[in-house]
Order: sequence, then C-alpha cells, then structure tokens
Amino acid sequence: MYKIIIEGNNKLSGKIRISGSKNSAVALVPAAVLCDEEVTIANVPSISDIDALDEILRFLGAKVKRKDDVMKIDSSKIKNKLIPEKISKKLRASYYFMGALLSKFKKVEMHFPGGCSIGARPINLHLKGFEALGAKVEEKDNLFIITADKLIGTKINLDFASVGATINLMLAAVKAEGTTIISNAAKEPHIVNVATFLNNMGAKISGAGTSEIKIVGVSKLHSCFHEVVPDYIETGTYMILASALGDAITIENIIPDHVESLISKLEDVGVPMEIGVDYINIKAPEKLKATNVKTQVYPGFPTDLQQPFAALLTQATGKSVINETIYENRFQNLYELNKMGATTELLTNQKAVIVGPTKLTGKTVRATDLRAGASLVIAGLIANGTTTILDADYVLRGYEGLVEKLTNVGAKIKLEKED
Ligand code: EPZ
Repeated sequence: MYKIIIEGNNKLSGKIRISGSKNSAVALVPAAVLCDEEVTIANVPSISDIDALDEILRFLGAKVKRKDDVMKIDSSKIKNKLIPEKISKKLRASYYFMGALLSKFKKVEMHFPGGCSIGARPINLHLKGFEALGAKVEEKDNLFIITADKLIGTKINLDFASVGATINLMLAAVKAEGTTIISNAAKEPHIVNVATFLNNMGAKISGAGTSEIKIVGVSKLHSCFHEVVPDYIETGTYMILASALGDAITIENIIPDHVESLISKLEDVGVPMEIGVDYINIKAPEKLKATNVKTQVYPGFPTDLQQPFAALLTQATGKSVINETIYENRFQNLYELNKMGATTELLTNQKAVIVGPTKLTGKTVRATDLRAGASLVIAGLIANGTTTILDADYVLRGYEGLVEKLTNVGAKIKLEKED
C-alpha cells in the first residue's frame, strides 16, 4: 500500500487540468465488449480502476492497446468466462460486465462486485431489470448466474435513480428485441457519456440525461471513436481545495454545468469564482461561512463531494450540517478529521454536524475509502505540520496524477510505499 505525506499550510496557485471521468471510463470500457469491431476511447484516466478493467478484458480474450490516454479495444474474439473474484472484487464497476456479457452471450456468471465500503450497495435493481428483460437470475454464495434465451425490450421503472443500474440496463437492452424504456433513470453526466458512446457504435438510445431513457434494440454495433467526459467529481474536489487554500487557482478542461450544485454551495459559503467556458478561477476568501448540505442524485449536490466538502466546512465559521441521503456509511472521514483537530459529530449514520473554524494539525490518518481519502488530502494541505495518509491507494483509484497536479500548484506532497 502507499501513503501520502503532506507538509500543510501553503498557499497554492497555478493551473490544475482535469482528467477524464473515472465513473464514465469504468462504464465505457466494459461497454466496449458489446461491439464486434475495434473501438477507440480517448481521454481515459490512468488510474488503478482502469488497470483492473484492462485485466478483465485481457482475461476474456479481448485485444487491448493502451497508449497515453487512448485505449483501443477489440472484443471480436472474447470468450464468455467466469471472471475470477479476486479481479472483479477490485472495484464496483466490474458489474458492468454483467449487462455487457449478458447482452453479448445471453449468459454471464459473476461474483458480487467490490467497491468502497460506504454502505451495503446491493445490486437488486440491476438484477430486477435483467429479469424484466427476460433473463433468469440465480445466486449462490454471492455468485450470480444470469441467463436468457433472448432479451426482449420492456418498460423498467427503477425504484431509485441508480447510476449503476441505469447504465447496466442500457448495456443489456442495446441489442434486445424491441424497445426498452428505463424510467426514473439516473441523469449523471456519465450516463450521457455512455449513451453517446453506444450511439456512436450504432445503438438507438434517446433521453439519456433525463429520467426516461428509450433504447430501440439493434442487431449490430460497429467500431467508433469516443472521448471520456471530464471528471466533474475531480473538478469539484479541486474547486473545494482551492476554496480553502487557493491564492489564485485555475481549474481547466471542465464542464461548469456539471458542477452547478457545488458552485451554488460555494457561493453560499462565500467563495468568489470566475466561471469560464471550460475553466474556473478560484481564490480562497479570508472568511468562509457555514452552510447545510444535502446530497441528492444528479443534478443535486453529489454524494461523492460531501466528504471533500466536509474538510472545507471545518474552516467555515459557524455550524454546518451534512445530510447524506444516498449512502448509510459515508462519514468515516470525520473521525480522521477530528484527530487533526476538527469539531465534527455524527447525529445519525446519515447526518453530521461540523463546527468551525478549527485549527487543523498534521497527524497520521487513514483513508477508509476513495472520497474520504480526498477529504484527508484537503485537510492535510490546510493543516499545520505533517500529515501522513495511510491506505492512500484508495485515493489513487480516482484521482489521476494527484501528487503531480498538486505539486504543480505549490503543494508539498509526496507518495511513499508504506513500510
Ligand atoms: C456510482 O455508484 C459511483 N460509482 C459512485 O461513486 C457514486 O457515489 C454513485 O454512483 C452515486 O452517484 C461508479 O460509478 C463506479 P448507485 P453506484 O447505483 O452505481 C443503492 C466514487 O466515489 N442501490 O446510484 O453503485 C446503493 O446502495 C463512487 O466514485 C440499491 O439499493 O451508485 C446506494 O445507496 C462511490 N440497489 C444508492 O442506491 C441497487 O441495485 C446509490 O447507488 C443499486 C443501488
């Protein structure tokens, strides 16, 4: 495992360039399996989750070529094999191979996926959707066997606007016979990015980005070129960091619309921002005001940004309340922040209070999940003294070139192997 070591309390200035979206790229790579010709995906972030998906593709017999941020995937000769649990457990997004392999082979065997320990994270909505399309789902000791004579388009209403279920069911429906309607669909930017990729291959998907997605089944998908959308969670993480420490930070290669809910929250907190077409300039204000945050599905405040935002709220004057409505265990970072001098308290497993401003002091802390780790990086950069973040591999999963990007704006940060 790696650890991140930070000498905190330095003003940061300069440019941070945003990479391709992790949560889009980890769906696009399995989606490539649907095509019987080579597809090219550009702006793929180089993060360990992509390495794990690359490993799965090669295990299945796909031809994969990676150069810089470009991935060429030829799945014409892949075999339908049980993906070893030790690989599929590495990440939550391995479950996209369920929808892709079910569509391609009408049969898939897969273990329950991995992913950050921020809640139970069942996949019942995915499985219910596969059954609605005509598949049979069996489960034995967390191994799922999903089979279908054929997949037939139908209307699927999601009890919850699940990102994963929306994407997985799009993948399963692309080549089904007839038309599928997914209602109460998730609207995150990566849903649109995946639908665009599939349409570039010849799929017939409309309504992505709204709560009703229509998929007219097609029989063949052809090769195409596609680009991963900029990562709005990486964007938001650096916007939050700049709001705490930025002397003058420009975050570039972004889509400002995708972080609208964060922009409005940062305005509440008193952060002046200059918003351009594909960049945002932020300078940390002298004083930050406390505010309340309630996480919601897109376009509401993203659950993936509430942990980084908590680090900022430790510096805001007054009492802030965070209401985490999506996951039941996404406040583990608060214990670590308290070790550094923050004043936070859990009211319930989905509601927390943060009172600020508090002086943060560098300590040895532990990343319990990806965005908790991001929260600790921000706190370490704010704190006086040295902060060591153990289990930093979590952070490296979702932030391409984190150490380089922060070093370039003046942070004293390094990565070391844990002894
Ligand atoms: C995706 O997870 C992201 N991961 C998560 O980001 C993100 O937090 C989440 O979407 C919400 O935006 C990837 O894209 C790889 P969901 P996913 O299905 O698809 C419940 C990060 O930090 N649910 O929208 O798992 C579930 O338990 C990660 O980058 C069911 O109950 O999210 C959770 O409480 C963390 N049954 C809620 O819905 C289901 O069948 C949101 O899940 C599916 C989900």
